[in-house]
Amino acid sequence: MELLNRPRRLRKDPVIREALAETRVNRNQFIYPYFVKPGTGMRDPIAAMPGIHHFTVDTLLTDVESGLKLGINKVLLFGVQGPKSEEGDAAWNDRSVVPTAIRELKKAFGRDLYVITDVCLCAYTTHGHCGIVHDHEVVNDASVERLVKMALAHAQAGADMVAPSDMMDGRIGAMRKGLDADGFTNTALMSYAVKFASAYYGPFREAAGSAPGFGDRRSYQMDARNGREAMREALLDEDEGADILMVKPALAYLDIISQLRQRTDLPLACYNVSAEYSMVKIAAAAGLIDERLMTLENLHAFARAGADVIITYHAREVVEKGWL
Ligand code: PBG
Ligand code: ZN
Repeated sequence: MELLNRPRRLRKDPVIREALAETRVNRNQFIYPYFVKPGTGMRDPIAAMPGIHHFTVDTLLTDVESGLKLGINKVLLFGVQGPKSEEGDAAWNDRSVVPTAIRELKKAFGRDLYVITDVCLCAYTTHGHCGIVHDHEVVNDASVERLVKMALAHAQAGADMVAPSDMMDGRIGAMRKGLDADGFTNTALMSYAVKFASAYYGPFREAAGSAPGFGDRRSYQMDARNGREAMREALLDEDEGADILMVKPALAYLDIISQLRQRTDLPLACYNVSAEYSMVKIAAAAGLIDERLMTLENLHAFARAGADVIITYHAREVVEKGWL
């Protein structure tokens, strides 16, 4: 057959395929999430997320140390602790588990480890919402005030970067101002700028004990049907001083990552969330899919869409098993 264009020529052998791969992922792009609770000596498996654990500060230090040797040098901390209260005061208490973990991690690993913290009230409030509730409504400005206090508590403990995940209006600007006023001009802000109201957070809410006690999060998280609004949210956060913009979840929102890549010069992060992770793990355990291949396919899709950094529960296993 006479045929001028034969794209398969360049797919013939692994050597040429490797040379021409348009997208590469490496471990420096990974941010690895950790769930931290009070106490000592515990490393309890989270049933909804196979391979992920609840750590106490001491076991966290051990795990982070072994991760660092593999090149996992950026972590995202989530606190799981009581006492829960109406306004979530434990969220900005400097004796809470996250500030304690930050101080210990920084003491042990200094600048070798980059410590990022999730800033949100939902794990600390009795009602499980991400802000302050008045008359069954999550009120914006009072929530922002508390979230700024939480960001400050993390910065004071030594966090390199804080990552607000609440989706209140104006919190990025308020946090930047609050951090700067307190001298934390070098504490970076990664905004969960485009965070959709999503069923993909299910396993996480079990892990963090942060499911809303009434209603849902649709009055603050974004509607999954909206792409233009996503750009608006992201660009507002850029104007307010975000250093990195995040899209979350990742797999069902690759179009959003790719569109945003065209609209901003800021670095982009995507959050490969809990159910995206657990679906792969559970399908693999059932013998339905090849875990290594599916994980790598997903990770490369994030990078191809335009994500610079990838927050993923797969990170540790991917580097441990040398999948990249
Ligand atoms: C808290 C928060 C959530 C996630 C990260 N921060 C859950 C939620 O908004 O309900 C989800 C992470 C995941 O599913 O892995 N605001
Ligand atoms: Zn929240």
